[in-house]
Amino acid sequence: MQFNQPAGDNLFDNARLIGRPTPRIDGPLKVSGQAPYAYERHDAAEGQLVGYPVVSTIAQGRITGMDTSAAEAAPGVIGVVTTLEVGEMPTPSGMHTAPLFGGAEVWHYHQAIAVVVAESFEQARAAAALVKVDYDVTKGSFDLEAVWQQKKDDNSEPVARVGDFETAYQAAEVTLDQEYRTPSHSHAMMEPHASIAEWQDGKLTVWTSNQMIEWGRQSLATTLEMDADDIRVDSPYIGGGFGAKLFLRADAVMAALAARKLQRAVKVMLPRPMVMNNTTHRASTIQRIRIGAQADGKITAIAHEAISHTLPGGSGEDAVDQTRKFYAGDNRLIVKHLAEMHLPEANAMRAPGEASGLMALEIAMDEMAEKLGMDPVEFRTVNDTQVDPENPDRTFSDRHFVECLRQGAEAFGWVSRNTTPGGMRDGQWLIGHGVAGAYRGGPATTSGARVRLQDTGRIIVETDMTDIGTGSYTILAQTVAETMGVDLDAVEVRLGDSDFPVSAGSGGQWGAASSTAGAYAACIALREQIAERLRVNDPETLSFANGAVNAGEKQVTLASLAADGELVAEDSISFGDFRDEQVVSTFAAHFVELGVHVGTGEIRLRRMLAACDAGRILNPVTARSQVIGGMVMGVGAAMMEEMAIDTGRGYFPAHDLAGYEVPVHMDIPSQEVIFLDTVDPASSPLKAKGVGELGLCGVAAAVANAVYNATGVRVRSYPMTLDKYL
Ligand code: MOS
Repeated sequence: MQFNQPAGDNLFDNARLIGRPTPRIDGPLKVSGQAPYAYERHDAAEGQLVGYPVVSTIAQGRITGMDTSAAEAAPGVIGVVTTLEVGEMPTPSGMHTAPLFGGAEVWHYHQAIAVVVAESFEQARAAAALVKVDYDVTKGSFDLEAVWQQKKDDNSEPVARVGDFETAYQAAEVTLDQEYRTPSHSHAMMEPHASIAEWQDGKLTVWTSNQMIEWGRQSLATTLEMDADDIRVDSPYIGGGFGAKLFLRADAVMAALAARKLQRAVKVMLPRPMVMNNTTHRASTIQRIRIGAQADGKITAIAHEAISHTLPGGSGEDAVDQTRKFYAGDNRLIVKHLAEMHLPEANAMRAPGEASGLMALEIAMDEMAEKLGMDPVEFRTVNDTQVDPENPDRTFSDRHFVECLRQGAEAFGWVSRNTTPGGMRDGQWLIGHGVAGAYRGGPATTSGARVRLQDTGRIIVETDMTDIGTGSYTILAQTVAETMGVDLDAVEVRLGDSDFPVSAGSGGQWGAASSTAGAYAACIALREQIAERLRVNDPETLSFANGAVNAGEKQVTLASLAADGELVAEDSISFGDFRDEQVVSTFAAHFVELGVHVGTGEIRLRRMLAACDAGRILNPVTARSQVIGGMVMGVGAAMMEEMAIDTGRGYFPAHDLAGYEVPVHMDIPSQEVIFLDTVDPASSPLKAKGVGELGLCGVAAAVANAVYNATGVRVRSYPMTLDKYL
């Protein structure tokens, strides 16, 4: 099915199930330990061996020799696979930059260079420590600050230039010119990367933890130089991803190589220390923002220049992206620099681009509002735009950012905030209030599904869509139940298996809108099949309710239609050019109240509120979970999370969740989420958009602005640790 025009009135506008608060249907399995994660698929393959990775202890250079004899002689060891014996393998383009395994080149610290396979985890780990490696070390470049000093102000190759920024900035009545710094972040999801691999008759099965099943399957095919049709990837439950599992990683490659060599099933997990340096992370950025405005608050000039680090060949963090679309202003300059470094591979982490970019832009907006003597809510409001500021002929499909600010401010009680920095006190606590805006795209991509109507009246939906903790199982069940007129518990959702139709997968907050649209397309195909059976020419004259189909006077149960064998229908939704003719985006306003202790400087969140505009909310329960989870992550980004760089040796010293701190429940006492009652007919047949990344965007800046409001100290470098504002 092609989605190539705005969705008209349809069954989702008066829905029974879509839009209803629905607890996640996989919840009981999750909390009772019956939803197995990749490493726990003990019954997936017979006689599983355990592989433990050996990783490089240098950041850049070449392996000149490896001695595995002691490891091979160690108790329980079945075999070792080294990167030297495997040799260089092709790297799938557009997926990752550094090789995951194979060859003598070391691209980054903790690159996987061998896997030691034994009967038990303990034996494999002990033997891995016995592998001796010799290196030729090359000196690398690891200092982002140094590269920034060379590159900043070089505007010769802007991402975008509109009007004449320099002249307008000079002429502006009020101006701001500041630099902001964001550190590298680790996804730090609960479930580390893990895979079990088994070969049978030249065919490979990988039980793994991956957000994008088809990308993973194709990447395995490229890497192992085999036919994708001979590979099955299965990943029904995923303990968090945040972008760390968008791509094939070394665990799956090592498991596949070891299983092939030893002719046994092999499982490999990347232990927590390797998650930080072997896998990907969000790149650190340095950002310069200049804003010029008239005395009435109208922005006349805006420039955003940013640098991030990347391996040679990578594309870096798009921290400037939201600034191209978020606020009005006739004269604009957007510049992106890359610093090529041999740190581990930087890649997508939840809201890549916007998460870092808004950490800077939304402090800058707060600073500008103060200079103008304006309420920061009002300043953002007067600079709203309903057209693409770089191309006024393009409109937003549906944009209610001002309404987010207005409803959020009202619900939060913004009017009674502290208006004087450092001016509100409650006992030993300085009280601060902060606001920030949020912007994130609303993408959708091709997504397929298959539905099977059984003779019991049950409907099974199969798609390689993943549920990374987001609620995919539940919203897909809601969609199918709604479209086919059955109860929620009459639908069984099967996900994450490459034997199922290819879906959009989970990434870029495109999953919810795309995968439900794909399931809807499959249901429409099933309805057409049913119409044919009933000899009804126009399927749209049929109505589906209470497990039955009504054709005029005639009513037939769905169960009876499948009495002679199940009905199977499959389709895929694709999104036409018309969607690209508009800007489809999501918006939010975040409000924060916190206290800063006058003696210790400790920051304590008091309450947080988000008002979100993200089209139809398919399930307020799972959508709220996404947003409050994002808000927690934003607090982490504001106050705690930092993958500091050892600029001498070129790695992240953080190797665990003690050295890389994230917020815990006690840190976040109160969170409220408001969803605007909006639908976006240009987005999908369900008029829905994603919220999973929106919830994180802007949060850290709202916290930073509240800390400023509490203390009068402006911190422009995250995380806001005590040393920066005491
Ligand atoms: Mo997201 S960073 O595309 O999982």
